[in-house]
Amino acid sequence: MRPLHPTALVTGGNRGIGRAIAAGLIAKGCTVTLGARDAAEGRAAAEALKCRFARIDLRDPDSYFDVMTAQGGFDILVNNAGILGHTSLLSKDSDFDAAMEVMVNAPLDLIRLNTPYWRSKGWGRIVNLSSGWGSHAEGLGGPGAYGVAKAALNALTHALPRDLPPGVKINSCDPGWVDTRMGRSAGSAPPLTVEQGADTPGWLALLPDDGPTGGFFRKRLPVAW
Ligand SMILES: NC(=O)c1ccc[n+]([C@@H]2O[C@H](COP(=O)([O-])OP(=O)(O)OC[C@H]3O[C@@H](n4cnc5c(N)ncnc54)[C@H](OP(=O)(O)O)[C@@H]3O)[C@@H](O)[C@H]2O)c1
Repeated sequence: MRPLHPTALVTGGNRGIGRAIAAGLIAKGCTVTLGARDAAEGRAAAEALKCRFARIDLRDPDSYFDVMTAQGGFDILVNNAGILGHTSLLSKDSDFDAAMEVMVNAPLDLIRLNTPYWRSKGWGRIVNLSSGWGSHAEGLGGPGAYGVAKAALNALTHALPRDLPPGVKINSCDPGWVDTRMGRSAGSAPPLTVEQGADTPGWLALLPDDGPTGGFFRKRLPVAW
């Protein structure tokens, strides 16, 4: 059964869509921990939102192992943090390893670390921030390793329901083209606000028990992988 005030961890919560997701979950009564790799930025954002802060660098497993051990677990995990490089996959300077660490390995580690908690509670929600560029159906667009990493994140989303404890739902979403540092690095005029970008992930984070799992969504509607 859904807790009255679910606890939630939002990675990359210091700015952009992650910060808006955190704000939206707080407004809905969740007890949010805002994860950020820069302690000063994370603390400032958490103070502004009046929520908890945890230093999490997804390229430093010790940082998130420590947080998960100290906290014991979260009802809701929002794997929001992402990086968008612009270097060819074939370049020796490719950001492939970093992209996979931040957007695939670390999200899976966090899910593994949190699974004993979900098993004990019988309720949980996982939201993976993906992208249309991670969709095979839409051509795996975008520069460098980004689309490949998001496609792998989508694959995890599709495959994990068979292993997750009962009561735990996992879904991916494309927030749309949102006016953030990343959104602006992809073009000059992202049309969506961070609040609009946070709508679908916020909805997935609090899905009712008869809601979907193992899906990929945009504007609260299913999209092709
Ligand atoms: N904006 C869009 O149009 C768009 C479209 C499709 C999908 N998305 C996805 O939506 C999510 C949020 O994107 P955004 O637009 O809000 O991007 P953003 O403004 O660039 O924010 C990215 C966040 O990820 C964090 N991050 C990066 N590397 C990290 C690491 N190693 N450890 C912990 N945190 C790390 C950043 O922290 P720092 O501040 O320390 O760098 C920042 O908080 C991403 O997964 C992105 O791929 C965005």
